[in-house]
Amino acid sequence: MSNKMWGGRFADGPDAIMEDINASIDFDRHLYRQDIAASKAHAAMLGKRGIISANDAAKIAQGLNTILSEIESGKLTFKRALEDIHMNIESRLAELIGPAAGRLHTARSRNDQVATDFRLWVRATIDAIDAALLAYQQALAEKALEHAATVMPGFTHLQTAQPVTFGHHLLAYVEMAARDRGRFKDARKRLNESPLGAAALAGTAFPIDRAMTSDALEFDRPMANSLDAVADRDFVLETLAAASIAAVHLSRFAEEIVIWTSPLTGLLTLSDRFTTGSSIMPQKRNPDAAELVRAKTGRIVGALQGLLMVMKGLPLAYQKDMQEDKEGAMDALSALSLSIAAMTGMVRDMAPDAARMRAAADGGYATATDLADWLVMTLKMPFRDAHHVTGRIVAKAAADGVALHDLPLPAMQAIEPRITQAVYDVLSAENSVKSRVSYGGTAPKNVRREANRWLKALVPRFRSS
Ligand code: ARG
Repeated sequence: MSNKMWGGRFADGPDAIMEDINASIDFDRHLYRQDIAASKAHAAMLGKRGIISANDAAKIAQGLNTILSEIESGKLTFKRALEDIHMNIESRLAELIGPAAGRLHTARSRNDQVATDFRLWVRATIDAIDAALLAYQQALAEKALEHAATVMPGFTHLQTAQPVTFGHHLLAYVEMAARDRGRFKDARKRLNESPLGAAALAGTAFPIDRAMTSDALEFDRPMANSLDAVADRDFVLETLAAASIAAVHLSRFAEEIVIWTSPLTGLLTLSDRFTTGSSIMPQKRNPDAAELVRAKTGRIVGALQGLLMVMKGLPLAYQKDMQEDKEGAMDALSALSLSIAAMTGMVRDMAPDAARMRAAADGGYATATDLADWLVMTLKMPFRDAHHVTGRIVAKAAADGVALHDLPLPAMQAIEPRITQAVYDVLSAENSVKSRVSYGGTAPKNVRREANRWLKALVPRFRSS
């Protein structure tokens, strides 16, 4: 039997393999809410413009409401033979309201329909991700405030570099998440134009009102070019690009959690709630959630690469290739949401081992720069000379197996006779971080101020939809 939605010129139905490769209902079913909302807006507009009767428009709206509750209560079974969400809903509408259902698709095509639905879906997903990132930032800022003065080693090349505070480190991720939210916000702004009414590709001869459907769906305006409206998937690409960068940020933090919870460093403990055991080694506390956040970056970035390849070289306007935009994006964005939630949970529960952090900051000659700076400030040495003198003092401390602040004054004076007892003030990690008061620096009072500023600034941006 040929397809009842488009099979007029077909004698035969599709091969089973044709149906398999063609059907998208297994994933575009997630668009049901958006498809129904867009159809309701379209039908109301057709009624208002006298393109269909007010009576038919009302019947269509009622039928669509029924379908919405049928889907939400799990009563409607989708059929693969009907290909996609659009035709499943339209076919159910025909069962419910009869011939009036056939008027819904006037002045519309599945091409503008799917573009509209997916824009609405991506928009709602961006709003949910924004809210999740905000909660993540709040968790980070709260923990940062708590640990504004908790000294830990800061690293470059993963070598102990200079003391920082744990709070300062956490606030770095708040900044990254803020830029991530900015990227999603930009993507949202550009995607928020309505393709509906572009029809198949060329617009329509019916006297439609595109501004009306655009307003009803809370788009900012109708898209200006009908070919672009049905052929554009920038909105998915941009969102996946924002998601990829956000995922890369999460993966960096996840990696640090893995390193810091390893007994090799022991700088951090995760709660039992975000740790798993080993089936053979009873002592293990594995940071699986952090590892999986690190790993999920792969599929998120993969979805971006995948869709870029799908879109590359596609002629205008709609091509069926574009149906491949959904699975990867839906998977990637749900992986990102899950990753953000997992990171938020880990941050809330994480407990730094302040003593070990402190010992690590003391142990790695982390205040060597403070010593060099002291030589510059107090003895007016050029920084390069101070760097060299400090290097010799560090070598002496290393040879004697002591920390910088435990190296006796005569040992230092043997290298630079003008050094005085006062130097010891700058050799403690506490004093080091306290001195870093430059804007953006790690001084506890800076961290407290920044954490408080964030906690005040972090208010939900979009209504959640
Ligand atoms: N399932 C299709 C998609 O996601 C809907 C649009 C189909 N359009 C068409 N001309 N066959 O792209």
